[in-house]
Amino acid sequence: MFQHLEPYAGDPILGLNEAFQKDPRPGKVNLSIGIYFDDAGRIPVLECVRRAEAQMLAESGPKPYLPMEGLAAARSAVQELLFGADHEAVKSGRIATLQTIGSSGGLKVGADFIARWFPGAEVWVSDPTWDNHRAMFEGAGLKVHSYPYYDPASGGVRFDAMLQTISGLPAGSVVLLHACCHNPTGVDLSREQWQALIPVLRKQRLLPYLDLAYQGYGDGIDADAFAPRALADAGIAFFIANSFSKSMSVYGERCGALSVVCTDAAEAALVLGQLQATVRRNYSSPPIHAAGIIARVLGDRELRALWEADVAAMRERILSMRRSLHAILAAKLPGRELGYFLSQRGMFSYTGLSAAQVDRLREEFGVYLIRSGRICIAGLNSGNVERAAEAIAAVMR
Ligand code: LMR
Repeated sequence: MFQHLEPYAGDPILGLNEAFQKDPRPGKVNLSIGIYFDDAGRIPVLECVRRAEAQMLAESGPKPYLPMEGLAAARSAVQELLFGADHEAVKSGRIATLQTIGSSGGLKVGADFIARWFPGAEVWVSDPTWDNHRAMFEGAGLKVHSYPYYDPASGGVRFDAMLQTISGLPAGSVVLLHACCHNPTGVDLSREQWQALIPVLRKQRLLPYLDLAYQGYGDGIDADAFAPRALADAGIAFFIANSFSKSMSVYGERCGALSVVCTDAAEAALVLGQLQATVRRNYSSPPIHAAGIIARVLGDRELRALWEADVAAMRERILSMRRSLHAILAAKLPGRELGYFLSQRGMFSYTGLSAAQVDRLREEFGVYLIRSGRICIAGLNSGNVERAAEAIAAVMR
């Protein structure tokens, strides 16, 4: 029955993470997947999450199905987090928000919604982008193209070329944008560049789709929400999928959301209805445990303060690892331009290493990164940064 199936080549990120787990070498270093590890190399359990879970356990209530759109308290907390409680778009009820299965679940529900209600719309993603973006939108039946983004020569954004491509897109095209901490390059649009892009999106009647998976890892929780706020201020309709996997260190709990900012509350109600229908056809409703974590951590003043402090500490630790890695490499590779390690933001650095150099790092030194040359800086710690930097310098020589 199944002999005609093609064997699955495996996922370039998840597969590598699994290969790392199986590697018996004691000195191995995992810089592959976008997960925050602490200085001891462990995935932290944040105190705010521990306390939220203790409260949930103590209450030990029944576990009904959540509504298709998720828990109301989690949904409104997400809107306030993304846009600010006083934002006109929040107050006027013109945002349709769903609690989703991580932001991947949100991206997929949004992609299915677009395929159904904007037939013929094509999707444009940055070159490069997160490996799964293309697969996810193509999986929903949409055609995917890319717009120029990363400039390997300068280590910055090819902003003029990006703007030129986007200015030529047909109305109704979907433009996927990373709200902060671009994955995989770590190179973000500046606020001035967002302000230059927004009128183009509006004039061309394009449909922006933001992915915000690393909120808090760039400049801060509010600062990293600059893009969705600026788009909402401009009165543009858009999608935003956001995740708490990294910011609350709750990867396997699948805490995320999808919000669609609409023109008015009546339109948002229409959109919410069709998003509910999309969820029902996919997985019916999101997990109740995830809802409890999101609603409590964001909604309780004390837990919220603990969370904000933890996000700041995680961001700072990554910055300190960026500085250490840069300092060691600069000492070992004098004269080499390495400033990008410091200017890139969030968990990732795009090293410019070739696939052959990446393979050598893994095989010879036990240092794992994905073949695009992206490294997850959050996999570095005071115990392994020296070793990892030496290995990287060895293959860069
Ligand atoms: C990554 O890019 O490494 C993360 O977003 C994890 C994933 O699902 O790929």
